[in-house]
Amino acid sequence: MPHQTDAERIAALRREIKRHDHLYYTKDRPEISDAEYDRLFRELVDLETAHPQLITADSPTQRVGASPLDELTKVSHEKPMLSLDSMTDQDDVRAFDARMKRELETDDIVYTAEPKFDGLSVELVYDRGIFMRGATRGDGMIGEDVTINLRTIRALPLQLETHPALPMHLVVRGEVYMRLDEFQLLNRRMTERGEDAFANPRNAAAGALRQLDSRITASRPLTLTCYDIMAVSGASPPTHWDDLEALAAWGLPIPEHRRRCRSIEEVLSFHAATDVMRNALPFEIDGIVVKLDRRNWQDQLGSKSRSPRWAIAYKFSPRKEITVIQDIAVSVGRTGTLTPLALLKPVEVGGVTISRATLHNADEVARKDVRVGDTVKVERAGDVIPAIAERVPIPGETRQDPFVMPDHCPVCGSAVAREGAYFYCTGQTVCIAQLKGAIEHFASKSALDIEGMGKKTIAQLVDLGLVRDLADLYSLTKAQVLTLEGFADRSATLLLESIERSKSVSLDRLLMGLGIRQVGQHIARVLAKQLGSLSKLMSATQEELLQVREIGPEISASLTSFFSEERNRAVIARLIERGLTITSLSTIPLTGSQSLTGKTFVFTGGLAGYSRDQAKELVEQHGGQISSSVSKKTSYVVAGSDPGSKLDQARKLGVRILTETEFTALVTPE
Ligand code: IVH
Repeated sequence: MPHQTDAERIAALRREIKRHDHLYYTKDRPEISDAEYDRLFRELVDLETAHPQLITADSPTQRVGASPLDELTKVSHEKPMLSLDSMTDQDDVRAFDARMKRELETDDIVYTAEPKFDGLSVELVYDRGIFMRGATRGDGMIGEDVTINLRTIRALPLQLETHPALPMHLVVRGEVYMRLDEFQLLNRRMTERGEDAFANPRNAAAGALRQLDSRITASRPLTLTCYDIMAVSGASPPTHWDDLEALAAWGLPIPEHRRRCRSIEEVLSFHAATDVMRNALPFEIDGIVVKLDRRNWQDQLGSKSRSPRWAIAYKFSPRKEITVIQDIAVSVGRTGTLTPLALLKPVEVGGVTISRATLHNADEVARKDVRVGDTVKVERAGDVIPAIAERVPIPGETRQDPFVMPDHCPVCGSAVAREGAYFYCTGQTVCIAQLKGAIEHFASKSALDIEGMGKKTIAQLVDLGLVRDLADLYSLTKAQVLTLEGFADRSATLLLESIERSKSVSLDRLLMGLGIRQVGQHIARVLAKQLGSLSKLMSATQEELLQVREIGPEISASLTSFFSEERNRAVIARLIERGLTITSLSTIPLTGSQSLTGKTFVFTGGLAGYSRDQAKELVEQHGGQISSSVSKKTSYVVAGSDPGSKLDQARKLGVRILTETEFTALVTPE
C-alpha cells in the first residue's frame, strides 16, 4: 500500500466512521463491533490531537465541542411548523377522506401513511448539504436554536450525500426521540444517582435536547427520524413518498415502516397493523400520520392557521390506564435489594393486561405518595415492567397509612438494612432469593475457589433444594451430586474433592467469600491482617472497626449489620462445624483471567455495587491498572453516579466511557 499521509488517513477515517454511523443509526444494520468502531474513533481523535489544524467542523469528533450556553437563543422558522388535526375515531378518518374527495373532485386519492413518532419536532437546515442550524418547534413560528445539541445525535448527518443532486438550501422536519431501552437505562442511572426519573421517553428527549451544555445532550441516547421537506431550493419531488426517498438518499433517517395507500380502507388497515406492531417497536409511537401524497393536491388544499388541511394524525387509544393498587409487595433481588411492587387490579394497557408495576424504591413510593387502595394511572413503555405514572386523587377518599419498607426480609426473615434510597436483606448467606449469587461468589476463584462449581451446577443445587445455605455445600454427598445434570462418577468425585480442599481457607478468602457488602478482596485482606481472627471480627463494634486503617463508616456498618444477623452467625458456625478451618492469612495470588492486561482504568463518581477498593481489585485481578487521571493512554473511564470532571476529560479525549453495568460485564468473564 502506498504511504498514506496523516491528512489522508484522517479523511479516510472520517468517511469510514460516517459510513458506520449511518449503518448503525439510520439503517440499523451495523457491520462492525462497538470495539472496532471505538478503535477507529480513537485513531481519529489521536491523529486530530496531533494535527489540530486538520480538525474540521464536520468531523465526527466535533459533535460535542461547544462550551455551555447561558440560554438558548430564539430563531424564527423559515416556514411555520404546523401541527396536525388529530382524531381517534374511524368515522372522523372516513369523513376526512370524504372531504379530500369532495374538494379535489376525484375518487382516486393516494395517501402516504407513516407512524406518528412520540418525540419532539425539530427543524433542520442544510446549506449545500452541510448541517447549518437546527431548532425546536417552539410555538410553531419561533423555536429555540439547538444546533450544537443536535450535532451530538449520531443519526443526524453533518454532511449529506451528494446524490441525487443536492439542493443549495434544504429545510427538513423530523422528530427527535429516545429508544425505550435507552430510556430505561437512563432512568435507572438517574434514580441510582438520586435524581428524578423522567416520566416518559418524550420528556427525557425534550430534556436532553434543550440542555445548555451539549455534553449532557451527548451523554443522552437521542435519535432522529425525518418525515417532511419544509422548504427546498429548486424543484421539489412531486409526491411526499418521493420526498421521503430523496431524504433517505441524502443519508437522512426516514420512517422505515410506511405505506402508500390507494384507499381509506388501506389507511385503516395500516393503522390497525401499526397498532399491533407498536408493542414490539423499540420506540414510542402514538398513532399514524396520514398525508395526501401529491404535492399539487397539498398546495391546492393549503393550510388553516395551525394545521394543514391535507394531513391528519390518527391516534391510537392511550396507553395509560387507571386502576387501583390492591397491595404493595416487596421483592428481593439477587443481590438482596428490596424492591416495592404495586399489585394492581388487572387493567389492559395498550393491549396487554397489567397486574403489577414496579415502584423502584422507598423514596419513589414516598415521592409519588402511593398507598394501598389508591387509584393510580399506570403506564406501559414497550416490553418493560410497567410503572405507576401518578396517583389520581379521589375527592373524599379515606386513605390507608403510607407504605413502609419491612424491617425483615419477606423471603428469609433476616433484618433489613438501608443504604441511601435502597433497602437490602442482610441474610446474604441464607436468603434463598440471593442464594445462587451468594454461592457463585463464595465458590469463586478469589474466595473459596471450588473448582467445578459453576453457575449451572449451583442453579441445580439450589433449585433441587440440595443446598439451602452456604454450609450445605459441605454436606453434599456423591449420590446427590450424581443426580445433577452433566455429572458422572468421575466428575462428581472431582467436585467433591475440590469442595473438600476448600475447607482449609485463609481468613481473607473466607471474608471475601461471605459476600458482605463493601468487603472485597482488598478490604478482606486489611481486616484479616488487622484483626487476625474471625471471632475478633465478629465481635468487633463499629467504633473498633473504625480504628482500622482504610475502614470507614460504610464498611464498618456493613460488617456489624452482617455479623449481628443471627442467621449469618449460624451459617458461619455450621461451616466450621462441617470442617471449615481457617488457616493463617495468605496473600491472595492473582487469580483473574488477565483479560485486562495492558488496560488502564480511571473511575469517576460513585459505584452502586462496589466500593472503589473492590473495583480497583477487580481490575487488578484481571491484570489491568488503575490511574487517577485521564489521559490519551487511558483505556476506559468508568462513570458512576455524580461523575466529576474526569468524565468531561474522557469525552474530550475520546476515551471509551463505561457504565457500571458495562464495567461489571468486563470484569465478570463468563
Ligand atoms: S408531519 C405539516 N409526520 O406530530 C405536517 N408529524 O401535531 C407536519 N409527528 O408536531 C407534521 N410523527 O412533531 C408529521 N410522521 C410524522 C410525524 C409527525 C410525529 C409529530 C410532529 C408534530 C405532531 C403533530
